[in-house]
Amino acid sequence: MAVLNVNGKALNHSADPRTPLLWVLREQLNLTGTKYGCGIAQCGSCTVHIDGVATRSCQVPVNSVGNRKITTIEALAANGTLTKIQQAWVELDVPQCGYCQSGMIMAATALLAAKPKPTDADIDAAITNICRCGTYQQVREAIHAAAKA
Ligand code: FES
Ligand code: FES
Repeated sequence: MAVLNVNGKALNHSADPRTPLLWVLREQLNLTGTKYGCGIAQCGSCTVHIDGVATRSCQVPVNSVGNRKITTIEALAANGTLTKIQQAWVELDVPQCGYCQSGMIMAATALLAAKPKPTDADIDAAITNICRCGTYQQVREAIHAAAKA
């Protein structure tokens, strides 16, 4: 067994060391809020935080993570209170089908932690996630709304 530091807990898993982190989270730790889209680090649906950095977990071998802190979408409202980003997402009706949205929220959360008042250019540079439903404008508006909240 190996251990991962996920959402503040030490969790055991028995995956092959080269397994992408995404699949350990989803299939061994039942944290299915992190989604599989492309598997080649292009779409961002699998975004989690590793030591606070937005990271595409489909291309991260689990044995490369070590003791670093992994945060998934499940931890953002762990105490039952939505974060400013999540609240803005609800108020501005950002999600459509929703598939990409946990990755979008994780990327946006990391952006606001690094840049509390991002410009449109900052958002364009940081949020490169792909949304089949075309929610890009709503994502941008929600990030600005959360920055003002
Ligand atoms: S599934 Fe990881 S970036 Fe698309
Ligand atoms: S909301 Fe449908 S893929 Fe983004």
